Amino acid sequence: MQRVELKIKYNRQLIPNIYEMCLEGDVSDIRQPGQFVNVAVDNLYLRRPLSVCDYNEHELTLLYKVVGRGTTRLSLMHEGQEVDILSGLGNGFTTDVPYSNILLAGGGIGIAPLYKLAKELKSRGKKLSVALCFNTESEIFYDTAFKEIGLNDVYIVTVDGSRGHKGFVTDLIRQQQQMFGYFYACGPMPMLKALCQEVNCPGEVSLEARMGCGFGICMGCSIETTKGSQRICKEGPVFKKEDVVW
Ligand SMILES: Cc1cc2nc3c(=O)[nH]c(=O)nc-3n(C[C@H](O)[C@H](O)[C@H](O)COP(=O)(O)OP(=O)(O)OC[C@H]3O[C@@H](n4cnc5c(N)ncnc54)[C@H](O)[C@@H]3O)c2cc1C
Ligand code: FES
Repeated sequence: MQRVELKIKYNRQLIPNIYEMCLEGDVSDIRQPGQFVNVAVDNLYLRRPLSVCDYNEHELTLLYKVVGRGTTRLSLMHEGQEVDILSGLGNGFTTDVPYSNILLAGGGIGIAPLYKLAKELKSRGKKLSVALCFNTESEIFYDTAFKEIGLNDVYIVTVDGSRGHKGFVTDLIRQQQQMFGYFYACGPMPMLKALCQEVNCPGEVSLEARMGCGFGICMGCSIETTKGSQRICKEGPVFKKEDVVW
């Protein structure tokens, strides 16, 4: 973990309430897709955790949904401003798995940590199917970005069927009847639970909780797992499917 000041390269709205922020500076503590950063927001006591969406040697990209005071204030920040960030937090996704046919499933803003993961797995020569799941067409974002990685399949799933496959990711999986060797998912808990029950292969899910410190001290983000109590910010946010107690 490292505390850094990163400079905003751009902060732009993708669709109503969803923003992409690119920051420049020392991001050397970020080592795995699926890790997160904890962002200080002016006049708010608690930092706000956001997943690492993408990174390289000197840039970090975040995707965030405006839901309250912190994310509203973030959305008003502009190019050149500095952001105080705790970087390189948590344990991310395992990228050296010995499987070739892999499913990535993201629900809403939960697609954020899957973007760098998709790039990383693609560079390792994996066959990837990505399911991006939303309530309705007007909420779709980052589909083009995922397609531009050059993945085998990028499926859009909408609950109301206004674009792509109608229903939930589990409906898509049943229709496709593909055999996956491994899966990764991030999104709302009901989606993750249904997916873990439906997919007949090992995998990993990224979980969320309201956080206090973000680095393992306050115990505020503890959950029960098959290995006992674990902190989402420290042992997670990524957990193996078999470790999660639903
Ligand atoms: C490990 C981790 C990674 C995350 N990654 C992202 C990301 O990449 N992009 C993104 O947009 N959000 C992400 N979140 C959620 C994000 O941290 C919250 O949406 C944010 O802190 C809300 O701050 P706020 O001040 O705008 O809202 P607040 O005013 O604090 O709350 C507004 C509403 O959002 C709910 N809320 C706030 N935080 C959470 C949370 N952690 N989980 C569920 N509900 C919450 C509150 O209950 C309330 O209803 C992540 C959370 C965690 C724990
Ligand atoms: S947020 Fe403090 S221990 Fe996880």
